[in-house]
Amino acid sequence: MHHHASSLNTAVIGLQFGDEGKGQVVDRLTQSHEVVVRFNGGANAGHSVWIGSERFALHQLPSGILSPGKLCHIAYGCVVEPNGLMEEIEGLRRRGVEVGANLTISARAHVVLPRHVDEDGRRSGAIGTTGRGIGPCYADKAYRDQAVRVGDLFEPGIGGDFGKWAEALHPFVTEEEWPEDRRVLFEGAHAVLLDVDHGTYPFVTSSSCTGRAMPADRRVGVVKAYMSRVGEGPFPTEIGGTAAERLRAVGEEYGTTTGRPRRVGWLDLVALGHAVRAAGVTDIALTGIAVLQRLETFKVARAYRLDGRLTTRFPAQAAALGRAEPVIEDLADVDALINLIDTEVAPVRFVALGRSREELVERGTR
Ligand code: IMP
Ligand code: MG
Repeated sequence: MHHHASSLNTAVIGLQFGDEGKGQVVDRLTQSHEVVVRFNGGANAGHSVWIGSERFALHQLPSGILSPGKLCHIAYGCVVEPNGLMEEIEGLRRRGVEVGANLTISARAHVVLPRHVDEDGRRSGAIGTTGRGIGPCYADKAYRDQAVRVGDLFEPGIGGDFGKWAEALHPFVTEEEWPEDRRVLFEGAHAVLLDVDHGTYPFVTSSSCTGRAMPADRRVGVVKAYMSRVGEGPFPTEIGGTAAERLRAVGEEYGTTTGRPRRVGWLDLVALGHAVRAAGVTDIALTGIAVLQRLETFKVARAYRLDGRLTTRFPAQAAALGRAEPVIEDLADVDALINLIDTEVAPVRFVALGRSREELVERGTR
């Protein structure tokens, strides 16, 4: 059998606080791959994909599920909440999207239990989690003795909710991960600044979001031309007042998972440089410029003032990041913004002019 080189595998990774528009980039790149794999997170993710004027919001399923003929896999490293997943599958089926032999779920993925959701509700306050039981489920995974994996649902003698879930998930569950001989797109959930190691700890999610462990040589980092954040934690370039209200309204910055209004601010090149290095990004996909064009304001931060000094380093400590004051600069236009990223961060390979599949344009190699 002919084996493709792993260099044909691609990872798509969010480089900010999530909601950079990964859904659109994944949807587009899916067309040149055969398999789409999710490798982290669970129902805390919210990926929007626009097909024509129809919006699909995906939480646990890979965005590739909207592309007929592509195999989608929920891999080890993910946490699966069976009730929500079944609802998501039924919701897509009602809209005419096929979900059957095109979906597989790893027996090694962990199961989010009701008690994880309860516990998340009791202790999520300071971090402002999505309340989906993510942290407690990953904690149980590390503890091991109380954890439940998808494969455990099929052990003899399991009853109650577990039996019901086993029946529902049975058609999808596999002990294999993705096929080695096909082109794979690794779809990152959340983003590098929410990564449990590289993010603004402890204001992060509980999974690895960089995709570094996945066998891809091309690593596409998705960057929004401005920034947003849901939940608590430092955000140096955050803006407030009427400017924030306007940006939030024009960008429609409300959470896909929780509906919360997102905090918004300008592009932060200090944080972006850190994220690019952490994820080993080779190409950038830039989204959100249509939003900035409607505001006619193009601002970026290229440095922080921290404890009396100018720095381009991204602090490891959330407290230090919280003290950092961004040095905000005006740019003449969107082209200046693209050039700045291109020359100082990484090559901008894709630019989203709008949010539909067709509006993501590929730029020539420079
Ligand atoms: P958790 O993942 O529910 O534990 O939430 C931890 C933090 O990550 C909170 O600030 C959430 O708002 C944020 N978060 C988790 N997943 C996403 C996402 O997919 N997009 C944006 N923010 C997220
Ligand atoms: Mg999202």
